[in-house]
Amino acid sequence: VDLHLEPGGTGGRRASLEHALRDAVRSGRLRPGERLPSSRTLAVELGLSRGTVCAAYDQLVAEGHLVPRRGAGTVVATVQRASGVPVPSERPSEPALDLRPGTPDVTTFPVTTWVRATRRALSSAPSAAFGYGDPRGRVELRTALAGYLARTRGVLVSPEQIVVTTGCQQGLSIIAEVVHEAGTRTVATEDPGLPFHRDLLVRQGHELVPLPVDDHGARTDLLTTHPWAEVGAVLVTPAHQYPTGSTMHPTRRHALASWARDRAGWVLEDDYDGEFRYDRQPVGALQGMAPDRVVYLGSASKTLGPAVRLGWMVVPPALVDAVVETKKLVDHQTGAPGQLALADLIERHDYDRHVRSCRLHYRRRRDALEQALASVNPGEGPLTRGISAGLQTLVGLPKGGPTEREVLRRADSRGLALTGLAGHWHGPVRRPGGVVVGFATPAPHSFRAALDALVDVLR
Ligand SMILES: Cc1ncc(COP(=O)(O)O)c(C=O)c1O
Repeated sequence: VDLHLEPGGTGGRRASLEHALRDAVRSGRLRPGERLPSSRTLAVELGLSRGTVCAAYDQLVAEGHLVPRRGAGTVVATVQRASGVPVPSERPSEPALDLRPGTPDVTTFPVTTWVRATRRALSSAPSAAFGYGDPRGRVELRTALAGYLARTRGVLVSPEQIVVTTGCQQGLSIIAEVVHEAGTRTVATEDPGLPFHRDLLVRQGHELVPLPVDDHGARTDLLTTHPWAEVGAVLVTPAHQYPTGSTMHPTRRHALASWARDRAGWVLEDDYDGEFRYDRQPVGALQGMAPDRVVYLGSASKTLGPAVRLGWMVVPPALVDAVVETKKLVDHQTGAPGQLALADLIERHDYDRHVRSCRLHYRRRRDALEQALASVNPGEGPLTRGISAGLQTLVGLPKGGPTEREVLRRADSRGLALTGLAGHWHGPVRRPGGVVVGFATPAPHSFRAALDALVDVLR
């Protein structure tokens, strides 16, 4: 046990050691149950006699700060702290029922498979894997991803164009900086769209232009018309628009790819949940239509869990050097052990198997949500909008029912966390209300109760 103590102050050696130990316990630097070094070791470290250390320990035992344990030396007593460091806790404000979007059912995280993959990958990794490496990420993962993305999402890519990140968010942050440095100042983003997309772009110094969204996705057909001549990049979620759930129509995809080619613009494609499509074949990534102009952003946050912090960008050749340079300045590289584990998972198809089983799990939840909502608005058609894909769906408000604000207030009073649509619009203009329901979020034991609460607050 290493222990940092600075005996000092007034009194003799023993008094100052007692003071230092007391202070460490009271301030919480030494936690309850923590084991202290043996009196012999501490005496050597502090240049004191063993008798002085034993006497100081005895004094603190007498005061109730320390407890002698047979066979385990002396440990800090589990007393209440008088002051100082608060006891760390697991986010105590987690709501009992949670239908906020953005999170998968984290109980599906494949712990055993991940542990096995980690053990296999780390025991066969070269020692260089534990040093500073290529800012683009481990070659094992970039190679595995190149195959996986081509196979499952139609992305045209070589491992040289892949940069492993800590998630879509970091990828977007990096590319926002890179295109800004390359001269882009105005970015069109979806309206409604993800608030953090906008916040992140503004933080990097961009002006934003709202790109309206309808049932065919973002209105990319508007890009060539006035007043958007100044737009240098467009950020879209084509496979599953966030939050409306629409899929970008092929003519809009073509319009966007042509705009990018003709105007030398950049398309930032956030493919955050492209793996999850339930009723039809997934639409491929837009990147395949204009690989020289599209920056593709993907992530393991929805498939494995956001805490894994692993994502990837597929970067057009012209931007690779600038992206790599920026990534290097941000954090040098994404953690290698996680990358190696994910590479192993993908190469052995354990990742595909996991995604397939999650898809079935979420499809059942999607069905249960639609069934539950059918009772809210009888005869008026479904409340959900957009295609049923991904992990969230936009739920409209029933005719003659409560307003969005009222729904959120009721939900709050029932312990149900919900996200309103209002914050997704660019401006404060009044629009139709709704809630963005993350049906994947709850753990299995609370899913049904969360649905019941949702139905109640919408009625
Ligand atoms: C549309 C969209 N993009 C990106 C992200 C962030 O992903 P990551 O965890 O990979 O940074 C989210 C998270 O909810 C999201 O909903």
